[in-house]
Amino acid sequence: MRLVLLGPPGAGKGTQAMGIVEKYNTPHISTGDIFRKNIKENTELGLEAKSYMDKGLLVPDELVVKIVKDRLEEPDCKDGFLLDGFPRTVVQADALDEELKEMGIALDNVINIEVPSTELIKRAIGRRICKSCGDTFHIEFNKPKKEGICDNCSGELFQREDDTEETVSKRIEVYNEQTQPLIDYYEKKGIIINIDGTQSIDKVFEEIVNKLESK
Ligand code: AP5
Ligand code: MG
Ligand code: ZN
Repeated sequence: MRLVLLGPPGAGKGTQAMGIVEKYNTPHISTGDIFRKNIKENTELGLEAKSYMDKGLLVPDELVVKIVKDRLEEPDCKDGFLLDGFPRTVVQADALDEELKEMGIALDNVINIEVPSTELIKRAIGRRICKSCGDTFHIEFNKPKKEGICDNCSGELFQREDDTEETVSKRIEVYNEQTQPLIDYYEKKGIIINIDGTQSIDKVFEEIVNKLESK
């Protein structure tokens, strides 16, 4: 399956991606994760991306599009992929369309996770991520068994630098202006699946699977 996960910051894209890639055995391509890896490794790309991410702004389209194009041409994407957090602008969506057309393929579905803004801020601020395996928790909604420690690998949990109330609010604003138009964009193509993201993590997953499989 060739899928895109769309939704505002903190909607649960990364959380649901973990279940989807496991169930459908497909590569997970998160542009946010790619940037964070580059920041950690102090690459030129990381340095440039950080200057935007710290402010809650989008990284310029040319930069993001190039990375995703290269990634999609890798052999493991031949039979499908899950894009998480890409595309985020109409320019990116058009570029993706074009790239897929060149490859002779097309998107199957765009999963749009809907959650109101008040909830998003709580979700992002309480999020904790494992330093070793990347698993995501929440101090209230998805508590690790032991505070500050990953259930999977006992790694240390940390908070993302852009998960402050101020930056999250900015990210939501940017989402509303630049990314929300993509809902319409994909609705017109007839490939959007709307999901009620306010349910429990398991229920959201169930809804995604049911809707994907009844299409
Ligand atoms: P990115 O890393 O993609 O961040 P985002 O889109 O802001 O989304 P998040 O990762 O914050 O949220 P999520 O939806 O994955 O939620 P999660 O599952 O973790 O991008 C970061 C930055 O990189 C951008 O701001 C931009 O600068 C740059 N960037 C990335 N892609 C780009 C692009 N294409 N173009 C330009 N720039 C780009 O869940 C959040 C929390 O809620 C967790 O604690 C989780 O446990 C909890 N939770 C999840 N589901 C539920 C539930 N159902 N109920 C209760 N709690 C839940
Ligand atoms: Mg994410
Ligand atoms: Zn871990």
